Amino acid sequence: MPDSHAPQIRSMADPDARRAAAAILRAGGLVAFATETVYGLGADATDEAAVARIFEAKGRPRFNPLISHVPDMESAFALGVATPAALVVAEACWPGPLTLVLRRAEGCPIAWLTTAGLETAAIRVPGSDAARALLAEVGRPVAAPSANRSGRVSPTSAAHVAAEEFSDLELILDGGPCRVGLESTVLDVSGERPRLLRPGAVTRERIEALVGPVELASHGDAITAPGMLATHYAPSVPVRLGATALRDGETGLDFAGRLGCADDLSPRGDMVEAAANLFAHLRRLDRPGVTAIAVAPVPEAGLGAAINDRLRRAAAPRG
Ligand code: TXA
Ligand code: MG
Repeated sequence: MPDSHAPQIRSMADPDARRAAAAILRAGGLVAFATETVYGLGADATDEAAVARIFEAKGRPRFNPLISHVPDMESAFALGVATPAALVVAEACWPGPLTLVLRRAEGCPIAWLTTAGLETAAIRVPGSDAARALLAEVGRPVAAPSANRSGRVSPTSAAHVAAEEFSDLELILDGGPCRVGLESTVLDVSGERPRLLRPGAVTRERIEALVGPVELASHGDAITAPGMLATHYAPSVPVRLGATALRDGETGLDFAGRLGCADDLSPRGDMVEAAANLFAHLRRLDRPGVTAIAVAPVPEAGLGAAINDRLRRAAAPRG
């Protein structure tokens, strides 16, 4: 466990501070920064281990897919496929408090942990000039959930972020109080019809004026809680958890060498490494020739709770 220490707080208006922040991010570290909605806890979205550190710092009970932040529309549509509706709302609302869920583009470098294994990616061009300047400096998408510990309210000032006492957070970029103060609207434009997944400052009315009728995600089946609507990745074959030995026909997903198979979430039993590898491993195992997956027991401690939550979803019977 890294030592908990107070992060530095520097002005986000200071180009030197932004350069320092970008260097930390590019090296796999965590930086909190202001956006016009709320403060984000940022990491390089293309770096699985860096993203795992976000979850560890937040003490998240679950690996929800995260938003990748980019400085402009061009960067956004290099990562995700631009549907006609996506282009219209992006033109009208970016930069701003709107997140678009898009199909991952061919060769999209966003880590599988960032999108929780999904074929879609949530992408946002924030309204704050300083935030876009930071993102341009980083030159990679930055994954950033709100910079609060799990279960606490989203921070709208640098002091709020500092009060969370995140271990591993190196720097807070202080951009003053957030103008909007509410998380961005999340709109899924990856399919036929736009779906509103999370309400926010860009209203349903505004979106409908641009692209016509928008489905409310709560009209779908199953899960309805705001912010929890993302479907989750599950392999197409049966998954058996807590396996201490492989049965006939099973392919193993190991932890700490327990099963002695090649695919191991972390041979040395490191939880950050295991979290970082989880979705990439599940996807790799989901291939022709594999008919059943057996997963070694993963301890519940720390990130283990989130890993096991996702493994249980992957193993749940599907209709
Ligand atoms: O205002 C904001 O959006 C802030 C600032 C920092 O930008 N960020 C934020 O991130 O609120 P987070 O991780 O707390 O919220 C991400 C939301 C969740 O509701 C998540 O389920 C949804 O976006 N989401 C992310 N990727 C998704 C995907 N591929 N499909 C569907 N929903 C997705
Ligand atoms: Mg949040």
